[in-house]
Amino acid sequence: MKISQQASNFIEQEKKYGAHNYHPLDVVLSKGKGAFVWDVEGKRYFDFLSAYSAVNQGHCHPKIVKALKDQADTLCLTSRAFYNDCLGPYEEYIHNYFGYDKVLPMNSGAEAVETALKLARRWGYINKGIAENKALIVGCEGNFHGRTISIVSLSTDPDSYSQYGPFTPGLLKIPYNNVQELEKVLLTHGENIAAFLVEPIQGEAGVFVPDDGYLKACYDLCKKHNVLFVADEVQTGIARTGKMLCCDHEGVRPDMVILGKAISGGVLPVSAVLADDEVMLTIKPGEHGSTFGGFPLACKVAMAALSVVKEENLVEKAEYLGKIFREEMSKVKSPFIKQIRGKGLLNAIVVEPHQGKEAWDVCEKMAENGLLAKPTHKHIIRFAPPLVITEAELREAMDIIVKSINSLE
Ligand SMILES: Cc1ncc(COP(=O)(O)O)c(C=O)c1O
Repeated sequence: MKISQQASNFIEQEKKYGAHNYHPLDVVLSKGKGAFVWDVEGKRYFDFLSAYSAVNQGHCHPKIVKALKDQADTLCLTSRAFYNDCLGPYEEYIHNYFGYDKVLPMNSGAEAVETALKLARRWGYINKGIAENKALIVGCEGNFHGRTISIVSLSTDPDSYSQYGPFTPGLLKIPYNNVQELEKVLLTHGENIAAFLVEPIQGEAGVFVPDDGYLKACYDLCKKHNVLFVADEVQTGIARTGKMLCCDHEGVRPDMVILGKAISGGVLPVSAVLADDEVMLTIKPGEHGSTFGGFPLACKVAMAALSVVKEENLVEKAEYLGKIFREEMSKVKSPFIKQIRGKGLLNAIVVEPHQGKEAWDVCEKMAENGLLAKPTHKHIIRFAPPLVITEAELREAMDIIVKSINSLE
């Protein structure tokens, strides 16, 4: 990709002074608004990554930014050593919004997943009567739940786990989208299994959508074996897939829901675990926490971000625009396009390498033409614009995608 001297300086600075744990496209961004971002030269791009679905409400949403600014002038952080006048209202807001007894606030998605794993083990010992240190948690092959040692212990992606061992014990992996395998593991180890942890759609794996009925069948099996059904909705939650939670597509109410990313509209790192008292109250004072978890600034920002989702009908928009995206893109005939899949505005194109060109080349070409997306696992491109994108903007963006793909042939 052609890059300016100014952009190149920023890139070199990151390379020289920052850890090399990411491989970004050569685009240096300095501004965002709604569905768009601008680079340091002032070139405008459609943002079709939305910071991995954190910016569902659009960049710099005025209502969310105002909440941030107002609270920043008043009180930012108290720690949980004292009460404050934001956390209680936020917790009640979340209770009314999602219908769970309680919320446990954290910061990153990974921390919330860790929290859910701890809650599941606690519940397993206290409520299910699993013998000390025998609790098991079942996850799925191809998962992505974050980057901590315990979470990568559950990963089947060598990029995530290689040379990070020794790994956390007590974690079992079964194939995704396979109800029989879940039944098998529950029949074999059921009395020691505390929880089944699942992404309703595997986002990082390449927007892998399981068969209709999979989540419901897994939920029913979990109920039968007295196992918690835990949904990692960090990427799929908050309207992204055309329902408030992706599990809503199958009428499943998980025992625990893990949220992150868009709960703050991408303005602050905010995450949360939702559960009812039977699970949540197994952790007692002093047994888990985080200095920033539920800090006043986060509470105000998250309430504003969640209110925007309802006020701007983002659930309905994601559903409606997602259908248009899949319908229109399915009409495109190109040797590069192997499959189009997704739900709501979480979609992917599976790219067939053609004449030496692959997903990365498509993304570079789209960037050149004013649209940013990123390959996941080399041959899949995820398309997840902010949900505030208009239909006209979406159609303009689709023209760029098609033009870019066609120009590579
Ligand atoms: C499903 C899922 N869970 C957890 C995480 C981890 O979130 P974070 O990067 O905020 O730690 C991600 C991040 O992409 C995710 O997609």
